[in-house]
Amino acid sequence: MENFTYHNPTRIHFGRGQIAQVDRELPANARVLLLAGGGSIKQNGVYAQVKAALGARPVFEFFGVEANPDYDTLMRAVAVCRAEKVDWILAVGGGSVLDGSKFVAAAVDFVGEPWDIVAKRAKIERALPIGTVLTLPATGSEANGAAVISRRTIKEKLAFIHPLVFPRFSVLDPETTFSLPARQVANGIGDAFCHVMEQYLTFPAHGAIQDRFAESVLRVLIDEGPKTLANPRDYDARANLVWAATWALNNAIGMGVPQDWASHMIGHELTALHGIDHARTLAIVLPSLMQVQRAPKREKLLQYAARVWDLRAGSEDARIDAAIAATRKFYETLGLQTRLADYDVKADTTASEVARRLASKGMAQLGERGDITPAVVEKILRAAA
Ligand code: NZQ
Ligand code: ZN
Repeated sequence: MENFTYHNPTRIHFGRGQIAQVDRELPANARVLLLAGGGSIKQNGVYAQVKAALGARPVFEFFGVEANPDYDTLMRAVAVCRAEKVDWILAVGGGSVLDGSKFVAAAVDFVGEPWDIVAKRAKIERALPIGTVLTLPATGSEANGAAVISRRTIKEKLAFIHPLVFPRFSVLDPETTFSLPARQVANGIGDAFCHVMEQYLTFPAHGAIQDRFAESVLRVLIDEGPKTLANPRDYDARANLVWAATWALNNAIGMGVPQDWASHMIGHELTALHGIDHARTLAIVLPSLMQVQRAPKREKLLQYAARVWDLRAGSEDARIDAAIAATRKFYETLGLQTRLADYDVKADTTASEVARRLASKGMAQLGERGDITPAVVEKILRAAA
């Protein structure tokens, strides 16, 4: 196991009725930006609970953060923060709203062009404190310091990671997720699953705790995900799904072990170019990447086959084939199609375009061994035709 320093500063309030905790978390005199998406929170009662918890504090509402939050939209929220001297941001929604709040928090006092925060990894000196009320289990954004920001005018989607943008607190009330459309529930399961795989399906590194923990999160997603889709108001299934998605990317399982993240980097390009939902890009890339990288990932693939899918009989190659097939089938069963053709995307042209774009951003050696070169990226996408 490699050395590591682990610190997750986000306080989690989990369970029914926990939105009331927002009142205890925010200073009585806080000037709050309430950041939200397209309005789902007004229909499912979350907004009313949040308003009640905010009480008499001055609140400036900013709705309209879109899925794959856009730089132009977020800069309008930055302008509100500056004009109203906002000193706390409360993000209420899914990963897009939460990620958007991190960019806004970092951009408000940023000197220069805030796009450089993602485009050039420019240094952040300060960020407004963030609290979140999560309504979509998927990204782990409620308990990590990462955000992914899109800029549609230039067809870009880029990430940044900084300790200053960890939420100070996050409210996870599984009941807020009952109103999710099946498509978003499935997306969330598929995204969380891939987050675990990025930190687990690499090469053995004596991370016994990390491995066993990763395998449990995968199993919970496999078991509770379909239960939730079949019965959206099953509180316990939903609660386990919410908590699993948080643990998939609160950084714990990735400590001291190699990490991949190539599926995500390739996936972000597919979203930037073709507007495919984040989780669906992962459904396309992950099974194909497992196949193309089966030699360097061999030992972990066999471990994954045995411990996650109980595939213990037959030749090693047959077990690996079966594990990859089970992964593809899991995504397909959720309703997340795994082929570029399913999204009317031509593999040939897209494969070379994505490889070129990644290389031009310095991502020519992806994966836990740096062996996913532009040629391998092309191979992965061609195999996902
Ligand atoms: O905008 P509203 O009206 O709220 O509707 C949203 C949106 O249309 C809706 N929704 C959310 N909660 C709901 C609900 N509808 C009904 N009931 C509820 N309770 O769901 C739609 C999708 O929301 P979005 O926030 O876009 O989804 P998700 O949470 O999957 O976030 C995706 C974004 O997160 C990034 C992705 O790249 C993408 O931009 N990621 C962030 C990561 C991180 N911060 O660590 C890691 C991930 O790998 C990912 O890249
Ligand atoms: Zn993801």
